[in-house]
Amino acid sequence: MHVECEHADVAPDAAELSRRRFFERFTIAVGGVIGAMVGLPVIGFVLAPLVRPARPVWRQVGPVESFPLGATVKVEFSDPSPLPWSGITAKTAAWLRRVGKDEFIAFSINCRHLGCPVRWVDGAKLFMCPCHGGAYYEDGSVAAGPPPEPLARYSVRVTGGQVEIKTSPIPLTTFKS
Ligand code: FES
Repeated sequence: MHVECEHADVAPDAAELSRRRFFERFTIAVGGVIGAMVGLPVIGFVLAPLVRPARPVWRQVGPVESFPLGATVKVEFSDPSPLPWSGITAKTAAWLRRVGKDEFIAFSINCRHLGCPVRWVDGAKLFMCPCHGGAYYEDGSVAAGPPPEPLARYSVRVTGGQVEIKTSPIPLTTFKS
C-alpha cells in the first residue's frame, strides 16, 4: 500500500522562499555585526603597539617637599600611551624613594616574574609580590621566589620643584630560550 505524505511534493511558494532568503541574509548580517564587535577591539589591541609604539613620557607625581627623606611611597600616574577606551586601566604606579635633597629612585610596581603589583613592606624593608611569593630587597634586587631579575627602575628628575618619572610600557621580563 502506497501512502503519500500530504506535503511531500509541495514546492515552497515564492513568499516562503523570499522569507527564507530574508532570514538567511539577516542571520549573516547579525553574525557579521557581532563578529566585528568582538573581533575589531581584539585586532586593535594586538596591532596598537605596532601602529602607535608607546614612547617614554615624563609624568609629574608631586612636589619634592611632599616626599619625606628615606620613605618609599607609591605614586600613581597614567600609562605612557593610554588608548581612548582604556579608562581606569590606563592608571599605573611606581614606588618612589627620596634619597637626597633632589634625588629619587623609582621602582616599577610590576613584578619581574609575571607582572603582579608588588607592595612595599616598610618593617621588613622588602618589596613583596602577592602572586607567587616573590620578594625584593630595598634596592630592588631579588631576595626570594621566582622573579628572574631585579625590579625595573624608572628615570626620575626634578623640574620646577616637581618630581617627574619617565614612564614607559610595563617593563616585564623578556624570557629568553
Ligand atoms: S608575579 Fe610576582 S612572583 Fe610571580
